[in-house]
Amino acid sequence: MATLLNIGEVAQRAGVASSALRYYEEQGLITSCRSAGKQRQFKRDVLRRIAFIRAAQAAGLRLDEIKAALASLPEQRTPTPQDWQKIASRWQPLLQQKIDTLVALRDKLSSCIGCGCLSLEKCALYNPEDKIARFGNGALYLQGMSPSKLQEELDASAGNP
Ligand code: FES
Repeated sequence: MATLLNIGEVAQRAGVASSALRYYEEQGLITSCRSAGKQRQFKRDVLRRIAFIRAAQAAGLRLDEIKAALASLPEQRTPTPQDWQKIASRWQPLLQQKIDTLVALRDKLSSCIGCGCLSLEKCALYNPEDKIARFGNGALYLQGMSPSKLQEELDASAGNP
């Protein structure tokens, strides 16, 4: 197996355009060396970095977050599973938060999400007169608030036990 790949080989194997690889390199996400003919050459382990970048982008992570994570990997050697595990551990809370948001979206979109629109019948039940707005902004039921927690907060603020 070739250990150095040219930009076309990397693009074909990674399923991305060569322009994306040049962009990732400009952003400092991946690095290449030059052949005698000045062509970009990439170490084969760049394929894992590219797969990581694309998966993280698909999960909604920003390029600066991805860059910071990749910056923790050793440049001079192929990252080990332990190196990648360090990133996974650091990202666990962030990814869990995104998973929770996606699950909430999947499970609650047909119901009141506490956004203040009061456009669904269920809003009268779960967010009467947009009372949830006292506790934050945005769709609070997609951000971890629940109808029972809202009732608790309302009772507490009204001084009811
Ligand atoms: S869905 Fe918007 S307030 Fe209920």
